[in-house]
Amino acid sequence: MKKIEVADGIHMLSMNVEDILFEGMWDIANGVTLNSYIVKGDKTAIIDGVIGWDGIPDTLYKNLEEINIAPKDIDYLIVNHMEPDHSGWIEDFKKINKDFTIICTDKSAKLVKSFFGDDEKIQVVKEGDTLDLGKGKKLSFHPVPNVHWPDTMLTYEEETKTLFSCDMYGSFGKINENYCDDNLTEEEIEFFEEEGIRYFSNVMATFTPQVKKAIKKTGEFDIKLIAPGHGPIYRKNPQKIIDDYTRFSKYSDGAGKNEVTILWGSMYGMTKKAVDYAEKVLEKKGIKVNKLEMPLKSESEMMATVFKSAGIIVAAPTYEYKMFPPVAVALEELGRKKVTGKAAFSFGSYGWSGGAQKELNEILERNRMKWDFVEAVEFEGSPLQEDLDKVKEGILKLIEKMEDKIVK
Ligand SMILES: Cc1cc2nc3c(=O)[nH]c(=O)nc-3n(C[C@H](O)[C@H](O)[C@H](O)COP(=O)(O)O)c2cc1C
Ligand SMILES: [Fe+2]
Ligand SMILES: [Fe+2]
Repeated sequence: MKKIEVADGIHMLSMNVEDILFEGMWDIANGVTLNSYIVKGDKTAIIDGVIGWDGIPDTLYKNLEEINIAPKDIDYLIVNHMEPDHSGWIEDFKKINKDFTIICTDKSAKLVKSFFGDDEKIQVVKEGDTLDLGKGKKLSFHPVPNVHWPDTMLTYEEETKTLFSCDMYGSFGKINENYCDDNLTEEEIEFFEEEGIRYFSNVMATFTPQVKKAIKKTGEFDIKLIAPGHGPIYRKNPQKIIDDYTRFSKYSDGAGKNEVTILWGSMYGMTKKAVDYAEKVLEKKGIKVNKLEMPLKSESEMMATVFKSAGIIVAAPTYEYKMFPPVAVALEELGRKKVTGKAAFSFGSYGWSGGAQKELNEILERNRMKWDFVEAVEFEGSPLQEDLDKVKEGILKLIEKMEDKIVK
């Protein structure tokens, strides 16, 4: 666990977590950080206390001591969001500190009770409520419901102009040495931008309308520092992560980078022949191609890659009268995360009846995805030259459709 004084009287405690499935399902290749913050006035508050994945969070207590804070001296736990990746240690904390107050929204209070029992001292806060910690440190609270869970809020510290944004403005990716944007290298900044896309697409995409509201709310504060629950903090240029999140919200609605992602699968290589051909056509046009062979790619990577692309090609054969299941499952997942409005094209091989295309339409319809498709190409067995010509034609039309969707 790392600890850094990020502003006068504000410490960040951060822990890298690897080899876990985030939310029990996302295979995050580059890990994630869990960040807690300590705000010290006359009274002490801890914001988003991180979980000890291995039981009692001894390391957290040890680190608190090193910054001269005994766990029993903590007066307030600010629960910006009750999800256990931020608050899972309350139960252990109770064993060593009987006298602390939890500050949270009314929705969070209900969750605290159902997750940790109802013997907690809870102070419910509403929009604009404040808490004076003394020595100039004053916190204010700002609910942003459904920026992940219904209970979520932002906490703002007036003196240092710090926004503790919880899941908002977070990203995946473990942190090695540099925790603030003012000492991240160019490569690290790029790394966290990509990991931000992965995080947004995996965790936040379903809640894009609420994220947009939270971005708007961010505009009401004078901000010097953004301190999220996951990923680096932004002190040199807080606007950078606000701009990133603004752009990611647009990816949810169909915008994307000037890239085409081919989401594909093939049992015996027939569809693959057309995929390889499509890749060459796109490369000749100077467009970056991302190939996602399913089920080999992780769901986390699939989601991030499709999410950030302005153009999508779905290439899948027919399997038992329906679409090749690994590709159908991926599409379904994109639908559940409300990845809508993408420019798209589909093709695939069949043996006798076909059916992949029909299922594709059903998935799109059921999830109200509103992807804008070029006419599909289906071929029997191995694609003939005339089939490949149709694939090329489809790609050229796809490129046209992508034009007004490209944002970066
Ligand atoms: C397990 C299995 C199930 C299949 N089910 C169907 C089917 O229901 N209807 C159909 O037209 N073709 C079906 N096929 C044939 C494939 O769609 C055909 O072989 C196609 O060329 C496979 O393309 P691929 O090599 O890209 O996987 C099936 C093939 C397999 C191996
Ligand atoms: Fe969360
Ligand atoms: Fe979180």
